[in-house]
Amino acid sequence: MDYKSIKKFTMKILNSLKTLTTGNKKLPQTASGLALATHPQSGTDAASHIEIGAGSNAHSSVGSAAKPARMETRGLTVMYGKATGVHNISIPIHTRKVTALIGPSGCGKTTFLRALNRMHDLTRIARVTGEVLLDGKNIYDSDINPVLIRRRIGMVFQKPTPFPTMSIFDNVVAGLKLVGIRNRSILNEACEKALRQAALFDEVKDRLGDAAVSLSGGQQQRLSIARALAVEPEVLLMDEPTSSLDPQATNRIEELIHSLKKEVTIVIITHNMQQAARVSDYTAFFYMGKLVEMGKTKSLFTNPRQKKTEEYITGRFG
Ligand SMILES: Nc1ncnc2c1ncn2[C@@H]1O[C@H](COP(=O)(O)OP(=O)(O)O)[C@@H](O)[C@H]1O
Ligand SMILES: [Mg+2]
Repeated sequence: MDYKSIKKFTMKILNSLKTLTTGNKKLPQTASGLALATHPQSGTDAASHIEIGAGSNAHSSVGSAAKPARMETRGLTVMYGKATGVHNISIPIHTRKVTALIGPSGCGKTTFLRALNRMHDLTRIARVTGEVLLDGKNIYDSDINPVLIRRRIGMVFQKPTPFPTMSIFDNVVAGLKLVGIRNRSILNEACEKALRQAALFDEVKDRLGDAAVSLSGGQQQRLSIARALAVEPEVLLMDEPTSSLDPQATNRIEELIHSLKKEVTIVIITHNMQQAARVSDYTAFFYMGKLVEMGKTKSLFTNPRQKKTEEYITGRFG
């Protein structure tokens, strides 16, 4: 097979995966955009802020009508037994933009992020209510397969998570093999593409058969990102992806995020306010399980609407 037919074949498989995920070929691509289009001011800075208070958490006029939110949460609540992880969060997550989640430790950032690709399904004590829409379809609907959802909405964790017994190559293509792709040239092609996207290819191209654990921490994190990208997700969730990395490796990941958003919608949790300001287009500030406000990053950092936000971003707590 030549490159073109391989690419066509891979796209066919991935598209059929996407169809399987939603069980419906003709999902309205702009379902969540319809609401945005009815807001005459959407797209302006003034309209791009969401705040708590007076029930305004419920409105979703962030962004422009031309680019509907790829994802959106509506009244999303996660309980751990009787304890609240996050409460009543309604925010849009914009297509091919980076959304940063910030807030002090324990405020619910990870809890929220894990709800976006049904990771809580794997935690017995956790209970999710409300909606998480992907192109207008609630991913918690009973006809949705959570395994396939996690392929469309990939996740990168705080610490690198290479499969320790596998080679670099096998780590990258693990997700593709899982769906039955065995053709060596397709796997080679996908591996190279994902490693290039993760800015790791040049460093490992001559040692793809080496154990993944032989890589440095920063390389292992980029490998984890490559593995997540190999299945061509539409959304990538990153939970403090640089917290265990040195400044140089951190820098590489930040550059990577910047280039990835041309193709992928990204949600990133960060403890580092400078990082949020550097990499994100939108920022949501969480405090004690609630959304305090969300807005365009620049506007949230320079002109926070809520006193709590101002206190947090100026380092008075957290
Ligand atoms: N698996 C769990 N079981 C019970 N409580 C949890 C679990 N995970 C998180 N929590 C609680 O939920 C709240 C939010 O935690 P988390 O989402 O991890 O915060 P953050 O990521 O902002 O530090 C905290 O009070 C935390 O103790
Ligand atoms: Mg966390």
